[in-house]
Amino acid sequence: MTEPVTLSTAGTIAIIEINNPPVNALSQAVRQGLYDAVIQADADTEITAIVIIGAGRSFPAGADIKEFDQPMQDPQLPDVIDRIENCEKPVVAALHGTALGGGFEIALGSHYRIALPSAQVGLPEIHLGLLPGAGGTQRLPRLCGAAMALEIMFNGTAISAKEALNAGLIDRLVEGDLRQAALNYAAELQAPRRTKDATSGLADKAAVDAALHNATQIATSRMRGQLAPLKIVDCVRACATKPFADGRLFESDCFFECLASEQSKGMIHAFFAQRASAKVPEASRAQPRPLSHLGVVGGGTMGAGITVAALNSGLPVIMIERDHEALARGQANVEKVYDRLIAKGRMSLSQKSEIMARYRGSTEFADLSQVDMVIEAVFERLDVKRGVFAQLDKVLKPDAVLASNTSYIDIDEISSATNRREQVIGLHFFSPANIMKLLEIVVPQGAADDVVATGFALAKILGKIPVRAGNSPGFIGNRILGKYGDCAAHMMEDGATPYEIDAAIVDFGYPMGIHAMYDLAGLDIGWDNRKAAQGQRDPAERYVGIADRICERGWFGQKTGRGFYLYPDGARIGTPDPEIVALIEAERAKKSIAARKFTAEEIMARYLAAMVNEACEVLREGVALKPSDIDVTFVHGYGFPRYRGGPMKYADRYGLARLLDDIGRYAQDDPVFWQASPLLAELVASGQTFNDLNKG
Ligand code: 3HC
Ligand code: NAI
Repeated sequence: MTEPVTLSTAGTIAIIEINNPPVNALSQAVRQGLYDAVIQADADTEITAIVIIGAGRSFPAGADIKEFDQPMQDPQLPDVIDRIENCEKPVVAALHGTALGGGFEIALGSHYRIALPSAQVGLPEIHLGLLPGAGGTQRLPRLCGAAMALEIMFNGTAISAKEALNAGLIDRLVEGDLRQAALNYAAELQAPRRTKDATSGLADKAAVDAALHNATQIATSRMRGQLAPLKIVDCVRACATKPFADGRLFESDCFFECLASEQSKGMIHAFFAQRASAKVPEASRAQPRPLSHLGVVGGGTMGAGITVAALNSGLPVIMIERDHEALARGQANVEKVYDRLIAKGRMSLSQKSEIMARYRGSTEFADLSQVDMVIEAVFERLDVKRGVFAQLDKVLKPDAVLASNTSYIDIDEISSATNRREQVIGLHFFSPANIMKLLEIVVPQGAADDVVATGFALAKILGKIPVRAGNSPGFIGNRILGKYGDCAAHMMEDGATPYEIDAAIVDFGYPMGIHAMYDLAGLDIGWDNRKAAQGQRDPAERYVGIADRICERGWFGQKTGRGFYLYPDGARIGTPDPEIVALIEAERAKKSIAARKFTAEEIMARYLAAMVNEACEVLREGVALKPSDIDVTFVHGYGFPRYRGGPMKYADRYGLARLLDDIGRYAQDDPVFWQASPLLAELVASGQTFNDLNKG
C-alpha cells in the first residue's frame, strides 16, 4: 500500500507529498504522516526548506469528514499546522486542484504559498455546519482582512488562485510543473514568515468592526437559525482582539461545539446523501452514451431555463418551437436571463455573445437529426406530448436519448408514441431550471441502462444534483408535496390561517411557507390538476375547496397580484389578505366546522408526519431507492432546511415510534387521510431507522 505521506529530498529541499486519493482528505494517517515528516525535515541539518504538495488531483480538500462521527484521534490538525508554522526553515505550500478547509488551513500555516492558476482555495466548513477549526478563522483575517475572510467563510465557495493572489493569500502563480516551481521558489527563500505574526489584515479597527457588524446581520437574517455563522463571527472577533494562541483555543472550542450540534450532523448527512444519490444501479452497469449536442422542445418557462442551464455548461442547444412567433419568445426568454446579468454588471456583452453562439432556434423537428439528447418541455398535456414524441421518433438518430420534463404525466404513456421506448426517460427539472439544483431522473420500466446513465451524465455536465425516481404520478417530490399540501389545507379548514401555517414553516427553517410557494408557482397549475382529477377522487377522501374558491376569483398568486397573499404594485413578498381569511371562514361554515387553535408545534408535527408517511410509501413502492434520496429531493428542490439534513434524517431524530404514535392519534379524526405506511410500522416494530435503510 502507498504511504499516505512521503518525505523525499531534492538537493537540500525536503518534499512532503500527501497521497490519500481521491481528494487527499486529512485522515488520522495523513495527519500523523505529515506531523512526523515535518518534524524530521525540520530537524535535518542538511535541509534548507520544505515543500508540501498533494499527489494526484489536488492539495488536500479538507479534514476527513468520515471521521467526524468518531472521537478525533491525535495528532489534531491544528497542532500539526502549528508545528508547520513553527518550523525553523521556510515552508512552501504548493497548491493545485481544490485546497479546501483543513487543506487551505495547512497552506495558511505554511510560510509561503505557490499555486497553479487552475487551483482553487476556500473554507467550505459552513456547509457542514462547522467553522474552520484548524486556525483558519485566526490566520485568514490576519492576511486578507476581516471583511474578506468573513465573506470567504460565509460563502463557503472556493475562490480562484488569481483572486487569492490579488488578496495576498497566495504569493506566486506558476504555469506548468508545480513541483519544480515550488522547489525553485523554496531555494530562493531565506527565512520563515509566520502568518500568526501578520498584522496587515487587522490594522484598520473601524473596518474590522464594520465587517463584524455586517456579518452578524447576515448570520441573523439570511442564515438565521444556524449556529456556525454566529460562531465564525465570534472567532473573527477573537482574532482581532486576542493574542494568536488564545484565539486559536477559542476557535477550537467553537469548532467542537459546532461539531457536536444536530445542525452539523444534518449537514454532513446532506453532504454524503448528495453524493450517494448519484450512485444508481444503471450507472454502475453501463457507460453513458455520447452527449455533446442537446435539443430542447418548447421555449416557455422550463424549456428556456433548461436551455440556459445547458448553454452555461458549454453544450450547444437547438430549441424547437411551434411557430416563429413562439420561437422568438423562447429565444427572448433565454436572452432575458443574460440581459439581467448584464444589467447587474455580472456579465459582459461579449460573454453573452459567446454563450449565444451555441444557441440555435428552429421550428423544424428535422433540425434535431444530429443531437444526442432531446428534452421535451411543452404544455403539460398528454396529447401534445405524444405528438411531439412521435415526431421526434421520426427524425432523431437511432441512439439519441429522449426525455420529458413532465411534472405528472406517466412516461410510459408518452414513450408509447415512439418505437424506441427503452430510450425514453423523464428529466424533471425544477423552476427556475437554470438555478435550481435538483434533477429528478425518472426511470420507467424497460429503460436501457445506458440511457439512464446518460441522464446522470447530463446532470453532472449541468452541475445538477440527480435523484433517481420511479415512474409514479408526481415522481418523488411532487407526489409527497401533494400529501403534505393536503395536510396544510386540512389544518387551514380546521382553523389555522395560511399565514400561521407559513409562519410555522418559516420558523422551522424553510425560506418560505407553502402558501407563499403556491402563490409563486401559480395557483392555476394545481387548479388545472384538480379539475383533471375530478371524478377519480375517492369520495371518502376529505376535499378542501378553499384553493378552488380563490382561483375562481381569478387570483392565481403573484402573477395576478393576489392569491393567498396580496402583492400590491408588483410586490415580491405578499401581505396577509383579510378577504382570504373571510373566504376560508365561509368555506368552513359550509361544512359546519368549528375553528380551533393550532400551535406552531402542532402545525409542524402534522405537516412533517404527512410528508414522512408518504415518503415511506414512495420508498415501499420503490419510487425512491433510499431514504437519503428523499432528503436530497426535499433539501434541493423544496427548501427543506439543509441543516436538518432532510425529512427522513429529521424523522430519525424525532423518533419513528413517536411519529407512528402521532399518526395514530390524527387518524382518530380522519382515518382515510392518516393511514400509517406499513413501512413505518415495520421499522418501528423492528427498531430500525431510515439511516439503517440507507446503509442497507
Ligand atoms: N472527507 C472525506 N471524503 C471526502 C471529502 C472529505 N473532506 N471530500 C470529498 N470526499 C469524498 C466524497 O465523499 C466522494 O466519495 P465517494 O466517491 O465515495 O462518493 C469523493 O471524495 C469524491 O468527492 P466528490 O464526488 O465530491 O468529487 P468532486 O470532484 O465533485 O468534488 C471536492 C471534490 C470539491 C473536494 C468536494 O468533494 C468537496 O467539496 N468536498 C468537501 C470539502 C470540504 O467540505 N472540506 C472541509 C472539510 S471540514 C474541515 O476541513 C474542518 C477543518 O476546518 C478542521
Ligand atoms: P410553458 O407554457 O411556459 O411553455 C410551454 C412551451 O411549449 C410554449 O412556449 C409552447 O409554445 C411550447 N409548445 C407547445 N406545444 C409545442 C409543440 N408541439 N412543439 C414545440 N413547442 C411547443 O410551460 P412550462 O411551465 O415551461 O412547462 C413545460 C413542461 O414542464 C410541462 O410539462 C410542465 O408540467 C413541466 N414543468 C413545469 C414546471 C414549472 O414550474 N413551470 C416545473 C417542472 C416541470
